[in-house]
Amino acid sequence: MAKTDPLKHIVALCKRRGFIYPGSEIYGGFANTYSYGPYGTQMKKNIKDLWWKFFVESRSDMVGIDGPILLHPKVWEASGHVQGFNDAMVDCKECKGRFRIDKLLEEALGIEVEGKTLSELTSLLQEKKIRCPKCGKSNFTDARYFNLMFHTPMSKTHNSAEIAYLRPETAQAIFIEFKNIIDSMRVKIPFGIAQIGKAFRNEITPGNFIFRVIEFEQMEIEYFIEESQWEKTFDTWLLDMHKWCHLIGFKPQHLQEKEHKKEQLSHYSKKTVDIIYEFPFGWQELYGLAYRTNFDLTQHQEYSKISQEYIDQEGKKRYIPHVIEPTFGVDRTILALLCDAYEEETLKNGETRTVLHLHPFVAPVKAAIFPLMNKEPLTTVAHEIYHRLKVLWNVEYDASGAIGKRYRRQDELGTPYCITVDYDTMDNQTVTLRHRDSMEQERIPLETLEEVLREKLNLRWEEEF
Ligand code: GAP
Repeated sequence: MAKTDPLKHIVALCKRRGFIYPGSEIYGGFANTYSYGPYGTQMKKNIKDLWWKFFVESRSDMVGIDGPILLHPKVWEASGHVQGFNDAMVDCKECKGRFRIDKLLEEALGIEVEGKTLSELTSLLQEKKIRCPKCGKSNFTDARYFNLMFHTPMSKTHNSAEIAYLRPETAQAIFIEFKNIIDSMRVKIPFGIAQIGKAFRNEITPGNFIFRVIEFEQMEIEYFIEESQWEKTFDTWLLDMHKWCHLIGFKPQHLQEKEHKKEQLSHYSKKTVDIIYEFPFGWQELYGLAYRTNFDLTQHQEYSKISQEYIDQEGKKRYIPHVIEPTFGVDRTILALLCDAYEEETLKNGETRTVLHLHPFVAPVKAAIFPLMNKEPLTTVAHEIYHRLKVLWNVEYDASGAIGKRYRRQDELGTPYCITVDYDTMDNQTVTLRHRDSMEQERIPLETLEEVLREKLNLRWEEEF
């Protein structure tokens, strides 16, 4: 990792190499929105596919859904988000900057202020003469609540308009389908419903690249259980979340668990443990695991007047199930993986190479195929290999520039393997396989290339755990 402002280097690499671009850039940018470029999109897809495979397809106690972003407005009243999904904020009267007051106080005083009332927060800000991070003055409004949900008017008829909210979590789309899943699928408690999708939050102080953005993706599971099973199920899910972290290649020394204090818990949670990651800007939440009790289903039963009870097989017991919720941010996964993988490595010859040590499963390009020179017959053979592999994995062909430069370009993309066709290939039907991390090269018989790559690229997690 580079010593100075590593995040800046990662942001620059993401733009330079087509991972992530600033949103609406040709119009001067649109704060805290980002566009995923071709490599970022591929990496995101790899993560989501792997997550789905690991947590849904490979388990017999999970089903998946794809619910709408726009849900009936009553959903958000029932869930408590209309009333309670707020941040306390203040405006600077001088420069008009808007800030989360808890962050202002925490950063200036190094204390946690969760659980304090608006007037306590305002007093603290005034007593301690906290300065505006933008203009340096100490002249703030009183603290007030700001709801984080984006909303938009929906015209149902010419005369009436109704507010629709963009979902701030994917979870509610799962809860409101609980009854349909029970009725249409042969599921038995304990079981889980998974979903991957967009969520939106009108964050007051977003930032740190894609760490906190206003539009992001979540991979969430609501795991339905009998109340008595909650502690055991919670612990099992925490272990499964760690397995996932291991699977996609996080360095264990960059991960920790952090349990929420009582005053930090969300309105629906009785226990929450975050998996926090050591980002260049400090330890921050990467994923979360919450025991949501039966709060959500009970609320939906009350607001919808539709029973959310589960009847066990023998018909002996009727109850509203309790829920353990593991939640994973896609964008934070990408940022953490990039931070974990980024290295500016000083080579023996004194040169520096920038490399992403991404796990082959998340790497956007699995292999790159080069003819040593852009000449026949090397190019024809290299093209043949490229087309053979392209149907199996996302691979690239590159014939331009010096071979060293082509390797460096792939290092920056995190491509685990490069295959070079040279004049020996014509004589003995072998190619060079170059390993990204060690930069070592080995000769591989052309006929075994697919087999060798399949062995290196295929993930068998049964063997891992
Ligand atoms: N359903 C529970 C829930 O939404 P959360 O801790 O508010 O819990 C879950 O969000 C995950 O979504 C977080 O752990 C994080 O990875 C991601 N996330 C939350 N807010 C985000 C934001 N503004 N930008 C990017 N990712 C975010």
